[in-house]
Amino acid sequence: MKKNLFLSLLISSLFSLSLSELCNHHDKKVLLQIKQDFGNPYLLASWKADTDCCTQWYQVECDSTTHRIISLTIFAGNLSGEIPPAVGDLPYLQTLVFHKLTNVTGPIQPAIAKLKSLNFLRLSWLSLTGSVPDFLGQLKNLTFLDLAFNRLSGSIPSSLALLPNLGALHLDRNRLTGSIPESFGAFQGNVPGLYLSHNQLSGKIPASLGNLDFGAIDFSRNKLEGDASILFGPNKTTQIVDLSRNLLEFDLSKVAFQSSLTSLDINHNKIYGSIPQRMTQLDLQFLNVSYNRLCGKIPVGGKLQSFDYSTYFHNRCLCGAPLESCKKA
Ligand SMILES: *[C@@H]1O[C@H](CO)[C@@H](O)[C@H](O)[C@H]1NC(C)=O
Ligand SMILES: *[C@@H]1O[C@H](CO)[C@@H](O)[C@H](O)[C@H]1NC(C)=O
Ligand SMILES: *[C@@H]1O[C@H](CO)[C@@H](O)[C@H](O)[C@H]1NC(C)=O
Ligand SMILES: *[C@@H]1O[C@H](CO)[C@@H](O)[C@H](O)[C@H]1NC(C)=O
Ligand SMILES: *[C@@H]1O[C@H](CO)[C@@H](O)[C@H](O)[C@H]1NC(C)=O
Repeated sequence: MKKNLFLSLLISSLFSLSLSELCNHHDKKVLLQIKQDFGNPYLLASWKADTDCCTQWYQVECDSTTHRIISLTIFAGNLSGEIPPAVGDLPYLQTLVFHKLTNVTGPIQPAIAKLKSLNFLRLSWLSLTGSVPDFLGQLKNLTFLDLAFNRLSGSIPSSLALLPNLGALHLDRNRLTGSIPESFGAFQGNVPGLYLSHNQLSGKIPASLGNLDFGAIDFSRNKLEGDASILFGPNKTTQIVDLSRNLLEFDLSKVAFQSSLTSLDINHNKIYGSIPQRMTQLDLQFLNVSYNRLCGKIPVGGKLQSFDYSTYFHNRCLCGAPLESCKKA
């Protein structure tokens, strides 16, 4: 009994501010400003002026030695308002996440330009409007940039290719227009996975993209036209390519597929020619070439007969298993 009382006193004093607070005073002030700008939401209820932000607040993380705020991750909840300019006043921030919040509106906060140490930036599943700002190309330490599922418009800034450490770029599910920047064929250093699907991107895929080896490409559901064969090649290591639902038009029989390819979706385009024999050598887990203008016999072998007819249907004159057998033997 006595021991329990002692323990609970000890614990409550450990967690009270009377013991030295780790939280940096400047950072705490900034966070409380952010909370106030959002109208003191329930989601940030743990952010209390009289408790230690490093040990008692949710959604934030302090560096273990400097005790400066290095991570702010607010996700899955009710939050209304624009991203406050105060986020730019957390100079040691490496991770910034606003994700799946009910009513976060307005532009991508310009003050984010000040956060030179950022390496992980996710502002996704929100209701952000305006354009993808040019300044993001100056956040050289970014390894991950995700602005997916918003209402961003305008074109993709070519400056994003200046990010030397980017591993993945997610701009999918927005209202982006214009073409894919030529500069995306000249990423310095790391070559990121490119996720640009569900926008209104138009024009040709820049030939420069053929110079790089992307790990994954998702350009589906845009209005891209012309040739996409430059995305393939025997020396590439790309595993996943989704080009479905565009206006692409090229001869599939001339494409030299990389052996690394495990998933290829090109449905709903204007792709012509036949399915190359080379495809029987790929270890494909997913294939969809439906709704194109392909013709000829589906080569027999490899994984090609493991897919059902819907992988191949709605083409001009494809035949052979799993479709109907070709008329002439
Ligand atoms: C958000 O608010 C609505 C109504 O105000 C409520 O029904 C819902 O449960 C809340 N969601 C969360 C995640 O708190
Ligand atoms: C969403 O936030 C805006 C302010 O950014 C506010 O005017 C509006 O009432 C909010 N809507 C809901 C449904 O909470
Ligand atoms: C960027 O990252 C490198 C390596 O992790 C680090 O040494 C450098 O200080 C970082 N730059 C900034 C501005 O934080
Ligand atoms: C692939 O690599 C080989 C050997 O490095 C080289 O000879 C060939 O030209 C390359 N092919 C292409 C299409 O880049
Ligand atoms: C291929 O895509 C078409 C069109 O979206 C779809 O109807 C079909 O079910 C898909 N088949 C497979 C195997 O993914």
